[in-house]
Amino acid sequence: MKKVFVYYSYSGNGDLVAKYYKEKGYEIEEIVTKEPLPDIKFLAILTGGFKALINHKDKIEKSVLPISEYDEIVIGSPIWNGRLSSPINAFLANHDIVPKAFVLYSGSGKSPSATKTIIKKYPSSMIINLTEPKKHEEEFKDILNRMG
Ligand SMILES: Cc1cc2nc3c(=O)[nH]c(=O)nc-3n(C[C@H](O)[C@H](O)[C@H](O)COP(=O)(O)O)c2cc1C
Repeated sequence: MKKVFVYYSYSGNGDLVAKYYKEKGYEIEEIVTKEPLPDIKFLAILTGGFKALINHKDKIEKSVLPISEYDEIVIGSPIWNGRLSSPINAFLANHDIVPKAFVLYSGSGKSPSATKTIIKKYPSSMIINLTEPKKHEEEFKDILNRMG
């Protein structure tokens, strides 16, 4: 069975989750935006927060892997302003897929609006909330192991 973890990361938490999935035998597709968020965190939070609020879809590089050929797709997104990140919005808009699960990483471990969006659009997908994987490495691996 072909499995892929498709994710976006601005500050490295998603990269750590990708490393976990790679070790579990998933192929990895990192979403790269044509225009990166600013390096200055304060500006990044303003820009990304606003983009998420208006459900913006970033311009992203074409996928490297043939996503539609995979049997199982897991999506990884940081939470921006309670919502899915704009690079992930773009990926989902470009691909007619039903992910097995969404792994959402955030500062609070909560994803109020993202959860509503996912339940509405992908009612069969599992939603897993993680709190800052870089700070809580053992905990996040434990949660993902239990989710299978
Ligand atoms: C633009 C932006 C908006 C954010 N909004 C939230 C938020 O609404 N709630 C929250 O708990 N964390 C929020 N965060 C924190 C990130 O979701 C969290 O640090 C996440 O682990 C980052 O993943 P990454 O390192 O893979 O980019 C925000 C971070 C950024 C950059």
